[in-house]
Amino acid sequence: MKNVIDFIGVYQPDMVIQIGDLVDYPTPSRWSAGTRTEFEAGVIRDSEYTQKNFLEPLRAVYDGGVGILEGNHDERPRKYLESRAPALAAEDKFYRFENLLEFGKYGIAKLPPYYPFAPGWVAIHGHESPGLNQVAGRTAAMKAKKAGVSVVMGHTHRLAISPETTGFNGKLKTIYGFEVGHLMDVRKAGYLKNGPANWQKGFGLFYVGKYAATPQAIPVEDDGSFVVEGERFGEIKRSNGRFAKKVNE
Ligand SMILES: [Fe+2]
Repeated sequence: MKNVIDFIGVYQPDMVIQIGDLVDYPTPSRWSAGTRTEFEAGVIRDSEYTQKNFLEPLRAVYDGGVGILEGNHDERPRKYLESRAPALAAEDKFYRFENLLEFGKYGIAKLPPYYPFAPGWVAIHGHESPGLNQVAGRTAAMKAKKAGVSVVMGHTHRLAISPETTGFNGKLKTIYGFEVGHLMDVRKAGYLKNGPANWQKGFGLFYVGKYAATPQAIPVEDDGSFVVEGERFGEIKRSNGRFAKKVNE
């Protein structure tokens, strides 16, 4: 994640979209109900951690447009209040992730699901409608087919672009489903309980034109490095990655 933030600082894209599940919020999750974790008081702690480790470093290197989608983990405090204390939830503003994370202070927009960020493309987190496929890219392709528009999403933690093409007589139309992977430290995903996972680290890049946009999936390697336009960023094991050079200066 640090390398991706550094990359954003170097590359200066026109816009940055965080695809959702920025914060885990394990304390008010349904998995914690009735366990010790439910009583831990971690919502403000986790919000401050996220500001310090994501929003502040991002804003230190990038002052362009930043939009964040609400994922199923981000919405846990809000949903918890809705189900446990609806009389308070109706008027509550505090336990919404955009306020817990102080989006206003950082000049960040909360994006609505199906946010149209480029011609022919919308962004969702991916939990808004049911349906998951274990093959990378297929969940997004399924949602794209239903929506009739190319869809980029997170949620599955898998990284792939999956096209769906229709047409005849040489007139073909392609829409894409794009799952952008994850940027988690998998060792810290306690809920995996050291079991197997079929996740890929990565992120997405879009080259946006007037009438269409070209998607690219960028896999992030085990050492945290990745290649964009032929250049390797953030390599730490060997010393010729772009950020590693900076450290040696
Ligand atoms: Fe999710």
